Amino acid sequence: MDRIIIEGRVPLKGRVKISGSKNSALPILAATLLAEGTSTIENLPLLKDTETMLRILDSLGAKIKWGRGSVKIATESIRNFTAPYDLVRTMRGSICILGPLLARFKRAVVSLPGGCVIGPRPIDLHLKGLEKLGAKIEIRKGYIQAKAKKLKGRRIFLGGAFGSSVLATANLMMAATLAEGETLIEFAACEPEVVDLANFLNRLGAKIDGAGSHLLRIKGVKRLKGRTYRIIPDRIEAGTYLVAGLITRGEVSIDSASPSHLGAVIDKIEESGGEIKIRRNTLVVKNSGGSLKSVNVITLPYPGFPTDMQAQFMALMCLAQGTSVITERIFPKRFMHIGELNRMGADITIEGDSAIVKGDRTFVGTKVMASDLRASAALVLAALAAKGETEISRVYHLDRGYERLVEKLTELGADIKRIN
Ligand code: EPU
Repeated sequence: MDRIIIEGRVPLKGRVKISGSKNSALPILAATLLAEGTSTIENLPLLKDTETMLRILDSLGAKIKWGRGSVKIATESIRNFTAPYDLVRTMRGSICILGPLLARFKRAVVSLPGGCVIGPRPIDLHLKGLEKLGAKIEIRKGYIQAKAKKLKGRRIFLGGAFGSSVLATANLMMAATLAEGETLIEFAACEPEVVDLANFLNRLGAKIDGAGSHLLRIKGVKRLKGRTYRIIPDRIEAGTYLVAGLITRGEVSIDSASPSHLGAVIDKIEESGGEIKIRRNTLVVKNSGGSLKSVNVITLPYPGFPTDMQAQFMALMCLAQGTSVITERIFPKRFMHIGELNRMGADITIEGDSAIVKGDRTFVGTKVMASDLRASAALVLAALAAKGETEISRVYHLDRGYERLVEKLTELGADIKRIN
């Protein structure tokens, strides 16, 4: 199994180009199932997760062809409607093929995604919404078996115990595009990835209003046609490089990003002593001089501070002066990184859904193990700031969500290598 070795304390300098958004790409790839003809997706990040989604589409019978920086997906030859456990279990995002399969082919069999290291990941909202549209759903032998004679537009309240749900909104929005009549989704997620999906669907011929707000109005249409679409930049990758620049006391230009999607992250980085300059699609980050300050963070649905940046920001707070309280409101058990950060020299304790981070610590390189995608990113950031060498194992988690991570960090001057 591959490992990443990092010799820390090199200030990162230079430019890094942000890839397409993973969490936009997954539902958008699934949404190609809705369209007759061929869809061309540009700016697709080359990641393990997008590869898995393409393998699912391939297993359903879609024809996939790679071009330069884009992928073409033709769905005329879909003959199979089952997404197998072996593919689904590696990626929770696979659940978003349920809505499009059901809407276009009136049936879908998708393996239940199973457990996840970031805590329970129920799918009750997905199922409740699809049932409201008229689907009959049974859970049999670990699979969701869904069918429908036809889907009919309805009013659906999609709020759960932790607020809105990104992928449940995506699933319902996709299913509603081909339903008869009008669907209203109340308490819809407002994440930029949901807006990106709505823009793609509208490009295919759907009639969706209100994307980016909590109320979506979808007028069903008879058919959608394949078109070309470009995925938005990955805001979490950009946020991770913002922290990388600051934690190494370097100066990094983050290009091809979407600064308007990073408001909460920029705000917290500036509050903690980072200086960020924004020029169109570029963010330049450096330390504003002096030491970093501890700030408190609460993760919230967009436009709040993203849960997907919680672990990376925690690594930064370990080096700041004072004590920071980081509260996780989306996935209250998403603290797997704490044990490994403490092994590197941090002083973090958990109280309920909060982490108490005592600052002014020094990271010291050692052997650590990645546990999930964003936890792994936090370990890479800690290693970049650490005294000595850090060896990170189980790096396949990073391959799921960071395109060319080692190459991009090398271009910024990091002393990093991947070994087999
Ligand atoms: N929830 C329910 N019932 C449901 C669905 C969700 O109670 O049916 C709860 C969840 O347990 C959680 C909250 O609602 O407490 C929000 O979860 P959400 O459904 O929004 O998460 P998701 O759609 O499954 C996406 C991203 C995650 C990201 C979350 C939150 C993709 C493929 N995944 O997951 O990304 O953390 O939204 O923003 O889009 C990552 O990239 O590392 C990652 C985990």
